Amino acid sequence: MATDDKTQEILEKKGAHVQNMFDRIAGWYDFLNHFLSLGIDRRWRKKLIRAAGLKDGDHVLDVATGTGDLALSVLKACDCRVTGMDVSEKMMEAGRKKMRKKGREGSVRFIAGRAEEIPFEDNTFDAVTVAFGVRNYTDLEQGLKEMLRVLRPGGITAILEFSKPARQPLKALYSFYLFHLLPWAGKLFSGDKYAYTYLPASIKKFPQREDFLEILERCGFSGCRYETYTGGIVAAYFGEKKN
Ligand SMILES: C[S@@+](CC[C@H](N)C(=O)[O-])C[C@H]1O[C@@H](n2cnc3c(N)ncnc32)[C@H](O)[C@@H]1O
Repeated sequence: MATDDKTQEILEKKGAHVQNMFDRIAGWYDFLNHFLSLGIDRRWRKKLIRAAGLKDGDHVLDVATGTGDLALSVLKACDCRVTGMDVSEKMMEAGRKKMRKKGREGSVRFIAGRAEEIPFEDNTFDAVTVAFGVRNYTDLEQGLKEMLRVLRPGGITAILEFSKPARQPLKALYSFYLFHLLPWAGKLFSGDKYAYTYLPASIKKFPQREDFLEILERCGFSGCRYETYTGGIVAAYFGEKKN
């Protein structure tokens, strides 16, 4: 599928383009996420957090928290303190509203911030998490280095990101879904012409599996590993900060 000029511009420049895009779709984000993934996205987040081995009392930073779904998975898994950070105020506003509805008002501290310039001191957090966020960073390596900087020695980062299934027939089915069905359904519901063409284009462009592990290692993480879920539709990456 050829990428239109506007999608290409968002893909190349990211930054304010990505922020505006998420601001525009914030009201639809949760519904579309669960609808378009048939609800499996909740299971992916739960598996990521379980595999990260968080402990009660941990202070967790959830980068690119959006409406706070991964932050919620953390809260369900342990008695942790969670800070959620994002560039989109509208996404976080939808997140605050959702927390209120769920009777969890104030349980996540939402703060505005960019992954490339995290507004916290070195060694602040026991864990740093990101779900479906790193693909959107303007500067991937700078964002990962910042995550390492705010992590305490011995702490872990857990990253969930879309991947590409390696085996047929899932590979062909998923590709059809991603490049044809999803942009159509996304546009129909959210009314946004580009968000759901940006999504498959950004997945296609993003480094996969071993390539992403190499980047994590280059940024200074140790003990890097990954696992895939649902036939490789998503990958969970883990890396630690040396003691
Ligand atoms: C696909 S959403 C994921 C939200 C949430 N983590 C989840 O699991 O549903 C991506 C989020 O990343 C945010 N984002 C994009 N670039 C960012 C950056 N450089 N720093 C921080 N947040 C960013 C967007 O505003 C958006 O809320």
